[in-house]
Amino acid sequence: MKERPSNVDCLSGERKGERTYDKQRDLIRLAIDGDLGFIHELSSEAFSIFGDYREVIRLWFSNPEVITVVYVHNGQNPLGFGLVSVITGEILAIAVAPKYQRRGIGSALLNYIEFLATQRGLSIILLHTAKENRGAQLFFQEAGFQVVGTHKGYYPKGQTALIMSKGIT
Ligand SMILES: CC(C)(COP(=O)(O)OP(=O)(O)OC[C@H]1O[C@@H](n2cnc3c(N)ncnc32)[C@H](O)[C@@H]1OP(=O)(O)O)[C@@H](O)C(=O)NCCC(=O)NCCS
Repeated sequence: MKERPSNVDCLSGERKGERTYDKQRDLIRLAIDGDLGFIHELSSEAFSIFGDYREVIRLWFSNPEVITVVYVHNGQNPLGFGLVSVITGEILAIAVAPKYQRRGIGSALLNYIEFLATQRGLSIILLHTAKENRGAQLFFQEAGFQVVGTHKGYYPKGQTALIMSKGIT
C-alpha cells in the first residue's frame, strides 16, 4: 500500500531551483461545498472547448461515489482539483490553474487520487482525454498511463477521446 501523501511532501514534480512560491503550507484535501465555485471556474476555463460541463461537474460533485480533491496553497488558495469515481476508478476530471501548471501540482493530485483508489481496493484507474490534448497525454504518460483505446465523439462538442489506464497495485 502506498504511503498516504498527506501534504505537499507528496509532490513529485517540483522544479529544482525554480520555486516561485512557498509550498510549505500547501495541502491536498477533500473538497467542501465552498470549493464548487473554484471548480466551476477552472473547469470552464479548461474544458469549455469540449462542452458545457457546469451541470455535469455539479452532478459528479454531489455523487457519493465520486471523490473530489482540491490542492490548496497556503491554507486558502485552491490551485487545482481532481474528481475520481471510487467505484469504476475513472478519473473524471483533473485540472490545475494555468498560471500554476508545470510545478508538480497535477502530479500531486494524481498521486493522491491513486492513493484513494488503492485504499478502496481498485487495481486499475482510467480516464478519457481529448486526442488533441497533447499536454494532458504527456502528463498522464509521464505518470505511467498507457493509451488503451479511443472513443469517437466522446465529448459534447464532438471531439474524440483517448482512453488511458494504469495499474495501481
Ligand atoms: C494536465 C494538467 C492537470 C497537468 O498539471 P500540472 O500541474 O501542469 O502537471 P505537473 O507539473 O505535475 O507535470 C508533471 C509532468 O507531466 C508532464 N507534463 C505536464 N504537462 C505537460 C505539457 N503541457 N506538455 C508536456 N508535458 C507535460 C511533464 O513531464 C511534467 O514534468 P516537468 O514539468 O518536470 O517536465 C494541467 O496541464 C491541466 O490542468 N490541463 C488542463 C486540464 C486538462 O487538460 N486536464 C486533463 C484532462 S481531464
